[in-house]
Amino acid sequence: MSRDTTVVVIGAGPAGVSLANFLRRSGVDCVVLEARDREYVEGRQRAGVIDHRAEQIFGEFGLAGLVGGGAPLETFLEIRVEGVPRLIDGPGLAGGRPSRLVPQQLLVRRLIGAYLEDGGDLRFDARDVTPHDLDGDRPRVTYRDADGVERELTCSYVAGCDGFHGVSRRSIPEGALTTYSFDHGIGWYTVLADSPAPRYPLMAVSRHGFAAQFARGPHASRFYLQYRAGEDPRRWPDEFTWEQLRLRLGDDGLPGGAITGREVVDMRSFVAEPMSYGKMFLVGDAAHIITPMGAKGMNLAVADAYLLARAIVAAERDGDRSGLAGYSEACLRRTWDYQEFSRWYAEMVHEAGDESEPFRRRLALARLDRLFRSPTAGAAFADLMAGTEVSPGRWPAPR
Ligand code: APR
Repeated sequence: MSRDTTVVVIGAGPAGVSLANFLRRSGVDCVVLEARDREYVEGRQRAGVIDHRAEQIFGEFGLAGLVGGGAPLETFLEIRVEGVPRLIDGPGLAGGRPSRLVPQQLLVRRLIGAYLEDGGDLRFDARDVTPHDLDGDRPRVTYRDADGVERELTCSYVAGCDGFHGVSRRSIPEGALTTYSFDHGIGWYTVLADSPAPRYPLMAVSRHGFAAQFARGPHASRFYLQYRAGEDPRRWPDEFTWEQLRLRLGDDGLPGGAITGREVVDMRSFVAEPMSYGKMFLVGDAAHIITPMGAKGMNLAVADAYLLARAIVAAERDGDRSGLAGYSEACLRRTWDYQEFSRWYAEMVHEAGDESEPFRRRLALARLDRLFRSPTAGAAFADLMAGTEVSPGRWPAPR
């Protein structure tokens, strides 16, 4: 049966543009359909870390230099407890595997550039994207192009890379998916400020609430402040924000500066199982949402994209469909592993400062202390930070 392309990729976020590059560089053609325009997609600002494992994946496709070029390598992480600093050498504890700080918009911009330079087909402003016939041999995707003309693409596979709110997951019949949602009960107020970058990424445990500070270039910082349920921290006067940061970071001399961005992040998790239905394969946020603790969201998306690309290449080139059959299980194993890591991490740094739960607070402090006292515990933490093996092995999902 003829087809317009092998894979229709829905969405050009980190998942979609990673997948499109991996496929193209493996000789499999695809068309990417993105709802928004290029400027919007490339300008969407989000913090990002490419862990060592994800960088290796990009390396397999000759993209590591492009993706990581000029981006700072991870060295130490500072965890400050009630003003007392401690440093963790994550890359060292992981056997020399540093991650890289790459803002998401930079990753997306670079990957879109590489894909288009390679002659890739990416259609922006694609409206009303709708997958059809997912359980047959020849799925189709219809959409309206930038000029409002109705279009249709036939293909062999549809890759749902359109994020949590996209159409892909919704196009799978209800009943075929089991979903898990969890609200961690933690909210962060994120501010961008003209305040000098910290020497190392900094997490601060404090009885005034959790706070963190990350570099955003040499002269600016992104700060995170835990806020209490029911509060709207965007109403906090800037002076109060600075006062809270000085208290929580235990740094009276923290220089204030203009606050240039304010956002609220509520920590939640979501997983849809399985990550495939017929010819539809979900990738990245379309299948799972993870909290920012541990910075695994983008890395999960890259690992999913890698496993799917590899599975499609094996099926198309060698007629080996085992990768496609095992795609969901392989991705879910990593997803749950990282969900657990992210929850463990979040619980530790938030509860270690929470005086309203004294017993849990002591447990969290003990957990934190163990990272510094036990090289084995430190190495286990660092291994997750660097990124675990991307294994396509089978995983018996609990039922
Ligand atoms: N049709 C076409 N494109 C769509 C549609 C649709 N119906 N709905 C959404 N999109 C596009 C969005 O405009 C966006 O460009 O799909 C893309 C999805 O990108 P992301 O939401 O960034 O999701 P993903 O690529 O899976 O990236 C995961 O992003 O949210 C962070 O922390 C998360 O790091 C993780 C990463």
